[in-house]
Amino acid sequence: MTTEHALTVPAPRAAGCPFDLPQAYQQAAVQGPAVRVATATGGECWLITHHEEARAVLGDRRFSSDAMLDNFPLMTEELRKMVSESRSTTEVIDDQEHIRRRRILTAEFKAKKVEALRPQIQQTVDDALDEMITAGSPADLVSRFALPVPSAVICLLLGVPAGDHDFFMDRSHTMLDFRAGPEAMMKARLDLMEYMNRLTAEKKQQPDDRLISDLLASGALPEEEVAGTGLLLLLAGHETTSSMLAMSTLALLRHPEQLALLREDPSLIKGAVEELLRYITIVQNGVGRVALEDVEVGGQLIRAGEGVLCMVSTANRDESVFPGGEDLDVRRDARSHLSFGFGIHQCVGQSLARAELQIALETLLRRLPTLRLAVPVEDLRFRDGVGFYGVEELPVEW
Ligand code: HEM
Repeated sequence: MTTEHALTVPAPRAAGCPFDLPQAYQQAAVQGPAVRVATATGGECWLITHHEEARAVLGDRRFSSDAMLDNFPLMTEELRKMVSESRSTTEVIDDQEHIRRRRILTAEFKAKKVEALRPQIQQTVDDALDEMITAGSPADLVSRFALPVPSAVICLLLGVPAGDHDFFMDRSHTMLDFRAGPEAMMKARLDLMEYMNRLTAEKKQQPDDRLISDLLASGALPEEEVAGTGLLLLLAGHETTSSMLAMSTLALLRHPEQLALLREDPSLIKGAVEELLRYITIVQNGVGRVALEDVEVGGQLIRAGEGVLCMVSTANRDESVFPGGEDLDVRRDARSHLSFGFGIHQCVGQSLARAELQIALETLLRRLPTLRLAVPVEDLRFRDGVGFYGVEELPVEW
């Protein structure tokens, strides 16, 4: 039997500041570190709202990230179908095989490898800006900059030849574009899967020094899974980084004093990106888990089989860790944010995402010193409710 709960997730944001968290999540954080809530998909789960407890749950192997388990928060039949189709990928399993596969990928995202990509990321960012500037002000920063940059970077990472970039970008945008409708999105995904299979076969014949060739050469993954891994990286890394880029730009434009600090001293960019990751927290409806055993969290007994949502958004504003956390402060040390998760599933691509955000934001602010919003903020349409927070379009002028 389901009990009545005061809160239901996902909860909508109130009109007003686009960076305020949904009131329901703020209230839950006041109620305590572990709060029982209803889910819009018809079930119940625990919201883990404070930093210490959210970090503990994410780092605790007694909680599983297997989205196919009963009571996994916010799962619908449609989502279950999608997850079961991609089950061979690294993201959904907790066991030794996950650890082995994760190690293979982590090696590909080592700081040294990502550092080596920096000049090419810089070139990608400059090219996208050149095109945007040539097309003229005003422009939609999402379609002109925030989407193409991460997509081109994934092309670099995987070793997609330059001649295929347009095809690759077009399909990867459609795959993530809700306005295109479910059929077009699925078709784009299939096209990309087919493309990735072809690319893998080509790399076998003519290897390069990029990720697909590295994976093939290592022999660590069955060949048929190499293409799927490429697609997983695209799925995990494209929308996330592009949403962060657009929302970070908006956050800075809405906080002119913070923007001025960053313009005065560009060396603040690394810390500013951590603070933007914390302040925006695009993983807006939390990171799901299911308890495998009875575990006590924040004084509450979570029983085996119950679902939990680690609310990284409220954890990232926990006053005991981030005093004045409701405010954006680019000089804050925000490195203990949980925006990339924590523990064995912590984001594999975080060093790449960081490099992209640092380079893209620094370059954007440097090259367009008069950048400003071209429409009132009330006219912007935000992606509320869905997994990653973001803005559909961001019209800017300079
Ligand atoms: C700002 C951008 C990004 C954000 C906010 C983000 C956030 C996250 C979070 C919260 C998780 C943990 C999920 C969990 O614990 O269940 C995760 C996992 C993951 N991310 Fe990211 N991510 C970003 C960019 C990227 C990029 C660029 C890539 C790769 C190109 C990537 C690849 C992955 C993969 C493969 C996993 C699964 C790791 C595992 O289960 O072991 N992410 N990400």
